[in-house]
Amino acid sequence: MSSFVQTSPPVHAEPEAYTERQTNPELYQHFANLVSSLPSSKGLSNNQLHRHDQGWYSSQVPLVGAMVADACFAARPSDIIVATLPKSGTTWIKSLLYATVHRREHPVDAIDHPLTSFGPHGCVRFFEYQQYTRNKIPDLDKLPDPRLFATHVPFVSLPRAIVTSGCKIVYVCRDPKDTVVSLCYFINKLRFNDGLEPLSVEAAAEMFCDGLSPFGTYWDHVLGYWRAHLACPQQVLFFRYEEMQKDAANHVRRLAEFVGHPFGDGEEEDGVVDAIVRLCSFDHMSGMEVTKSGRTDLVVGTVENSSFFRRGAVGDWTNHLSPETARRIDAITTRKLKGSGLSV
Ligand code: A3P
Repeated sequence: MSSFVQTSPPVHAEPEAYTERQTNPELYQHFANLVSSLPSSKGLSNNQLHRHDQGWYSSQVPLVGAMVADACFAARPSDIIVATLPKSGTTWIKSLLYATVHRREHPVDAIDHPLTSFGPHGCVRFFEYQQYTRNKIPDLDKLPDPRLFATHVPFVSLPRAIVTSGCKIVYVCRDPKDTVVSLCYFINKLRFNDGLEPLSVEAAAEMFCDGLSPFGTYWDHVLGYWRAHLACPQQVLFFRYEEMQKDAANHVRRLAEFVGHPFGDGEEEDGVVDAIVRLCSFDHMSGMEVTKSGRTDLVVGTVENSSFFRRGAVGDWTNHLSPETARRIDAITTRKLKGSGLSV
């Protein structure tokens, strides 16, 4: 049995089942007090958003989790971190990364592949939503190399040990117009669960443009990782969702190379790359039983795994945003990204 299977949670399990975790309510209370003192606002969320001292917003619980992760996470150079804004393709890149890195222990076509049993968010877990939660400090030292984690925090707020350890960061960005539409649909599911009125897409876009969205401002987030990528391309890989859609296989090859697990000629001939692309495709993943009937505990709410799969399309914003709102977002993009060399 692989080490993954021994240490992984069943899909319905509470995070406590994942690894042994010490409790440290004092540390959580310390950061909760700090977060309570920060400016707060309504925003694109089911909860009040608080402004981190680096300028981005998050609801209280994941913000405290991010601060605890910053204080406690001990990185290893072999760690690989998925970093994204919500709704940028996190689920997809987690799947591709997991399937690629673990392809030897878990052949891609195995019927009991961990992605099939646990889903992408059970295989690669968020620091602030799944690991550093509920007053607990996870004992991540017991996990075998390479450890895979995920986070939504901006580059400036990554647990400091990540940057100093030199571990790998895989970032994915997505057209902000598609990101905000996707985010609005997702947040409305959380709002529905909490008995709150849904947000209109236009209201959501207004908040998004004002930076009142989880882990945003969008443009600062993408620029933070883009500049880190330019400064240190061997540590930060930068993908765009739209380009992944155009040529997923090539992105899988680049991902494998970047994380130090390149495909050999034999694997290419055996079609391993294409098999990974198929395993992680929207159509395949959205049809899996773990997606259709599983749930993920994200500390801010338990969500149905199917919520992570909506359309998986490029340009769906044209069906939801008014031309004026689209122009407003494009204008901010042009202004903010000017001279950066980045286009989204
Ligand atoms: P849409 O709401 O536009 O359909 P995240 O994983 O960061 O939460 O992002 C979710 C978005 O990625 C959703 O976008 C979802 O449909 C899409 N998505 C999820 N899995 C995908 C996959 N395997 N391939 C392509 N897109 C995927």
